[in-house]
Amino acid sequence: MTQMQPQAQMQVNEIQFTDNNPQLACFAEEVIGGLKKTPRCIPPKFFYDKRGSHIFDDICETDEYYVTRTETELLKKHNTEIAQLIGENCLLIEPGSGNSQKVRILLDELKPQTYLPMDISRDYLTSAAQELANEFPWLDVHAACVDYTTPIDLSFVENCTDTDPAENRINNTIRKVAFFPGSSIGNFEKSHAGQFLKNMANMLGVNGGLLIGVDLKKDPSTLHAAYNDKNGATAEFNLNLLTRINRELGANFNIGNFSHHAFYNNEKSRIEMHLVSNRPQSVTIDSEYFHFKEGDTIHTENSYKYHIEEFQELASEAGFKSRRVWTDENNLFSLHYFEVAESISPR
Ligand code: TRP
Repeated sequence: MTQMQPQAQMQVNEIQFTDNNPQLACFAEEVIGGLKKTPRCIPPKFFYDKRGSHIFDDICETDEYYVTRTETELLKKHNTEIAQLIGENCLLIEPGSGNSQKVRILLDELKPQTYLPMDISRDYLTSAAQELANEFPWLDVHAACVDYTTPIDLSFVENCTDTDPAENRINNTIRKVAFFPGSSIGNFEKSHAGQFLKNMANMLGVNGGLLIGVDLKKDPSTLHAAYNDKNGATAEFNLNLLTRINRELGANFNIGNFSHHAFYNNEKSRIEMHLVSNRPQSVTIDSEYFHFKEGDTIHTENSYKYHIEEFQELASEAGFKSRRVWTDENNLFSLHYFEVAESISPR
């Protein structure tokens, strides 16, 4: 085995890395700004420090969280058809790639030319991307640390944005396809989801594809359980936000004085996650002082649930046409493949 090592090392597939330096500058501002609002809220993107990213992986493996399991099954089952719809040699972009587990199901069949994982969690992203690159030595991997809730400019990816009208290349020769699993789209407010999809359509350009996982409306008790796992992974994830604020912003939240609260809001078709103050208390961040009464909450996340047609409508308004949708036999989850409608200008 020792003899093999030099050769194994030579085969390491080196990744490219682009750092758009998201979040750091605005973390304090967004937390303080959010805590001054009524009701108080903090954007969910801040969940994903290194520890948050790891706890999220644990959530995905809980018995109650059917999302990851069901979507993974759908990807495995329809892998070949997905690859046929998309075609080889695309530029595969994954906003919020996390541990890049789900994309592995697609790679061998799909054979993209380049995989572009994007995540806000820098160290987590680089190690996940490097690990994947080693596992798929033929694949060109370019990781980008970005905040995907703001429009993404792909000009940092070589050879993919140049347009040469003389050669009649549409946008470029490489088809761009976004992979957005996990129902992360559900974590946007509806109007923001529409805006995000529009930005995607613009980024992908004519002929671009979008493979997106969307959680479906279902009985509230299944939903409730999925966001209240009995081992407390989701609670830990939610509370880790306060630990992060203490560490990075020098705040003094007493973590034990807050609890995780998640419930299904039927009227708004969304799971809401909150951190609830268990007693009257005050917290300082920087020179700011915040008072919490018992029962006051910080709203940390929404997870909207859709009907299939409702989501197709939203995507269609953003410039996508539906090509295919797959669901599991229990109608828990949907996986959609859209293409950018030709009438949409790539610019
Ligand atoms: N996109 C996932 C969802 O809405 C994110 C998620 C799952 C999540 N469980 C969570 C986010 C718990 C925060 C806390 O289902």
